[in-house]
Amino acid sequence: MRMTDLIQKKRDGEALSREEIRWMIAGYTAGDIPDYQMSAMAMAIYFKGMDMEETYELTMAMLDSGDKIDLSAISGVKADKHSTGGVGDKTSLVLCPMVAACGVKMAKLSGRGLGHTGGTIDKLESFPGFSTSLTEEAFLQQVDQVGFAIAGQTAELCPADKKLYALRDVTATVASMPLIVSSILCKKLAAGADVIVLDVKCGSGAFMQTEEDAFSLARALTEVGRRAGKKVVAVVTDMDEPLGNAVGNALEVKEALAALRGEYKGDLMELCLTLGTQILREGGAARDDGQARAMLEEAVASGAALEKFAQFVRAQGGDTAAVYDPALLPQASVRIDVPAGAGGYVARIHAEDVGLVSMRLGGGRAAKDDEIDLAVGVVLRKKVGDAVAPGESLGVIHARTRETADAAAEMLRACFEIVPDPVERPPFIKGVVK
Ligand code: URA
Repeated sequence: MRMTDLIQKKRDGEALSREEIRWMIAGYTAGDIPDYQMSAMAMAIYFKGMDMEETYELTMAMLDSGDKIDLSAISGVKADKHSTGGVGDKTSLVLCPMVAACGVKMAKLSGRGLGHTGGTIDKLESFPGFSTSLTEEAFLQQVDQVGFAIAGQTAELCPADKKLYALRDVTATVASMPLIVSSILCKKLAAGADVIVLDVKCGSGAFMQTEEDAFSLARALTEVGRRAGKKVVAVVTDMDEPLGNAVGNALEVKEALAALRGEYKGDLMELCLTLGTQILREGGAARDDGQARAMLEEAVASGAALEKFAQFVRAQGGDTAAVYDPALLPQASVRIDVPAGAGGYVARIHAEDVGLVSMRLGGGRAAKDDEIDLAVGVVLRKKVGDAVAPGESLGVIHARTRETADAAAEMLRACFEIVPDPVERPPFIKGVVK
């Protein structure tokens, strides 16, 4: 086979065969196919697309490029969750203990990530001593005994995706449906869970800006996942404003703990109840959605979910004092309110820009090796649809210095669109694709 012929075939809109896709991915992973040819292929796929069969074969070829985690030694159903990414997304911290408290185990591999805040792993480092460097054996044992674990990836899962994703990033080929589907699913399949729930974000702070694109992605993910023999459900959710109120590492942990204590009832909890319902039903722990939701609500109300979270922090070496007393989490010394100029109603809060405020304060990484500040960030006081009086606080900036706080305050004010007439809050959960 010659790569030039495959590029030409895709350029002309033809479908690639299983053998051709496997040969290409194996060759690229081994370094036999150069980046310039793979770039041309990625661009051809970007313009000509791939049908479901090709997308499935690409997913499986990337899955087979590296190691796979074997969860079969763990008893019961194992679930995993993935989000296409958003601002203020601390869902895993709330969802995993809720689901584990209801008897379905969650085996989660997570990253540090670039961007507005750190990844889940960075956030968890708000607990002194907490470690995500678990051996595979310790990870499996903890999932079995505690009910969930969140660890950094140790095995070399999907090296083909790592290489191809880096290439897509610099060749303007990230936003291609088959490339996104195969990239997300190969990693989820390699992580070994039986039930996979995907949170597909839609809106200005997301990858898929329109609802139509988000639903297309959700349908493609569930279809390819099913072909691979997994139970996959995708939930399409709004990302036109940040999720919850907190954006920043320790601030998000604090909000997650409030949700686990039952003190937070907003969009974050709605999302956790919706995703958790899909997991309990697909995992066979509940007979229908109504029972699943009631079980999850009871796990929060009874304190079982918070206790599960404390067990998890302890099992991974963390100090649990802050689980019960969030005032012990890292705190920034400077806090200032951001007053609204004119009064009215909040029509929009530009999620991406709120993320940038947190990043400017030091809460996120611009480059892989940057240090992040766990304490800084933003806590929104207003969300879309809320009424605002002139001078009322839109949010609070948590910063290290007055100077950075003042600059961030100006940026945060600009994230808000305030209009004179009442605004109806759009539905947060757009739909569930099974
Ligand atoms: N997340 C991934 O892991 N891959 C993509 O291509 C897009 C989002």
